[in-house]
Amino acid sequence: MLIDFRPHARLRREQPEDCFEASIVPVVTALKGSSTELSKVRVVGDWVHYRNNFRDVVDIRPILPGEDFEIAVDVRRANSSSIGELTSTLLSRQPDRVFLEEWGTGTESLVWRFNALYWSALDLWEKATGRGYEQALPGEESDARNRAAAGELILELFAAWDRLGADAALPEQLYIVELGVGNGGQAKVFLDEFRELDRRHGKGYYARLHYLMCDYSTHVLDLARETVAEHAERVSSFALDATRPRTSLGFMQGKAFLIYISNVYDNLPTDELAYLGGRTYQVHSRAYLPSEEAAALAASVSASVEELPGFVHKLLRLGPSLLADACPGHFPDVEAAIRFWQQAWSILRLDERYVPLSGLDSYTLTDSLTGETLRPLLESGADIRMHVSNGALASFEDSLALLHPFGKLVCHDLFVNDVGDYRTAFRGPGKYDGSVVNWVNGPLLAHVGRRRGFDVNYERFRHRNGGNIVTMTAQARD
Ligand SMILES: C[S@@+](CC[C@H](N)C(=O)[O-])C[C@H]1O[C@@H](n2cnc3c(N)ncnc32)[C@H](O)[C@@H]1O
Repeated sequence: MLIDFRPHARLRREQPEDCFEASIVPVVTALKGSSTELSKVRVVGDWVHYRNNFRDVVDIRPILPGEDFEIAVDVRRANSSSIGELTSTLLSRQPDRVFLEEWGTGTESLVWRFNALYWSALDLWEKATGRGYEQALPGEESDARNRAAAGELILELFAAWDRLGADAALPEQLYIVELGVGNGGQAKVFLDEFRELDRRHGKGYYARLHYLMCDYSTHVLDLARETVAEHAERVSSFALDATRPRTSLGFMQGKAFLIYISNVYDNLPTDELAYLGGRTYQVHSRAYLPSEEAAALAASVSASVEELPGFVHKLLRLGPSLLADACPGHFPDVEAAIRFWQQAWSILRLDERYVPLSGLDSYTLTDSLTGETLRPLLESGADIRMHVSNGALASFEDSLALLHPFGKLVCHDLFVNDVGDYRTAFRGPGKYDGSVVNWVNGPLLAHVGRRRGFDVNYERFRHRNGGNIVTMTAQARD
């Protein structure tokens, strides 16, 4: 049996009996009392710090193709749960679940359709909860709203433009792209600061500025446009998928002086790969509702449990307003459809299993990269499970092509800085209100950026004390 206890820091911070003993020992005791072949078991302890997440306190994950399996325990909840009993029950029979999809890779999961629905119907969700999405972000406010950080960035841009101007090499149009604009709060801070600093600087850059706000939610873009209404002449908005900005912004190739992204990469689809016992696996998942909660949810909309998956898929296809129109017998008004959405999301869990990968070169990372890029990270030591950050990586690669030779990409987000960090703490997925969050594989993005001739640097967000936000900067090497 192999025991992989990942919340290292907790062992020092908590009393051991609050931690290792409460979470792992009962699992081992339950295994001892069962007929399980112990050599086939891995036991994994994670401190799942997201209060809302996709896991049960104890989960069992088959490791294909044989009969090996992993028992995963959420150490945070161990003290308040009967870990031994839960483990024994799971070892003796399959739990009752209402599945919402077939097995698939992380990027294929329907959680991403929930995520997209959240951003496209943000106003309905926020009205129902009385809470804005920013309150769920680290620090309860986007760091992109930080005036000092924006000011510093703008002065760096001015300095670069002054130098280009002195060589008569500064283009007339000065383009800045923001991906994933949310309510436009950060665009407003940036534009307000820009106008003010330009007034003092006296070079008339504001009049030449084109700020391109991009998001896949037209609703979010409408909100953002309203927020920056006083800068309307300087701003355009684009409905696009942040994982493929070039599809709509092809005309910007080599022109953007700044690509600005905050709290978006951690919200883009990702797969997970694992290297266990010298073999590479892909993590497959399928979304389900635990049967007891599913029965209550079905009753709340006068439906049978068997009808639930159909209603969830209808919700994801139509959104809550049209769902209420389409099925008035179950959802008498939009509020009822929103309640169904929020409740389904709150009880939604992910069943997981490990599927062997025949070869890393057969795994597609992005359109232009195979899994071979991951080998040094996966085979860097002991067993590991990591995010591939496919969406963030695709977005990053595509964005680099838009940068002016003196442009830079600046991204505030939750990054894993060292591949070893995947062995010591849980990195997602978690739920932020109606959206999904996964930390971003920083070493992978840096590796890909450097191979393309960019300097990629990470530093802790400097303008706030504490917090986990890191700023990534990518700029063409001199
Ligand atoms: C957590 S919010 C961050 C908003 C803002 N940048 C901030 O820091 O407050 C994530 C934003 O990314 C957008 N987004 C998520 N996935 C996207 C995708 N695939 N393409 C474009 N926009 C996306 C969402 O609509 C939302 O506006």
